[in-house]
Amino acid sequence: MAEDRLDKIIALNCSLSRRDARRLIKEGKVRVNGEPAKEAQMPVDISADTIEADGFDFTPREHIYIMMNKPEGVISASDDKNKKTVIDLVPPELKRRSLFPAGRLDRDTTGLIIITDDGDFTHRMLSPSHHVFKRYTAEISEPLSEESVALIESGITLDDGTECLPARVEAYSENGVNYMALEIREGKYHQVKRMAAACGTKVIKLRRVKIGALCLDPSLAPGECRELTDEELKLLFENE
Ligand code: URA
Repeated sequence: MAEDRLDKIIALNCSLSRRDARRLIKEGKVRVNGEPAKEAQMPVDISADTIEADGFDFTPREHIYIMMNKPEGVISASDDKNKKTVIDLVPPELKRRSLFPAGRLDRDTTGLIIITDDGDFTHRMLSPSHHVFKRYTAEISEPLSEESVALIESGITLDDGTECLPARVEAYSENGVNYMALEIREGKYHQVKRMAAACGTKVIKLRRVKIGALCLDPSLAPGECRELTDEELKLLFENE
């Protein structure tokens, strides 16, 4: 793993703010390879250096996994010259050099997105062969017919001939507004919108609410994020 600043590593692994991590270092309560650390900015490598922090069970984590409630109008890319990205919304205490969104949501799609620096994890979560279902709720212009529901469940063919894997779907309406809840285990380009189009309806609003068995934390306001717990990380790979 690449080196990073000690205060950043302490903040991340001890769940402290950067300021509290610096205070801990200043008070001589952090040791690197057995020696008290003097500089908050000193470069350390958590896979090679031994780090101890008094009062904390310092369990080095090689990677970071962040849950974000993606707001509308932000793109799911690592960087962009003109548009705001999900990475721009990550607060400094969770920032790392090589963060990227694990999968894409359209600019106008909201909800659950995972941000990480772990490529293998991302592949496991996104690859259809691992069968991790992603649940979306969509407001749609026309109600889904029973035939459309059956088509989606058996594997719908999109208007350009692309074949989708069998998916789970529920159609419902509330106060005269039509919705569908759709669970897919692949991520073709604009897949939900194109599945809706193949059923003769249009997605008006789209939100991702769940990946595997992990639901979006309802306490996260649009644009907010937090680190996943170890239990939540496991839930991502469990299907219900
Ligand atoms: N399907 C879409 O059409 N858009 C998204 O953002 C995600 C899935």
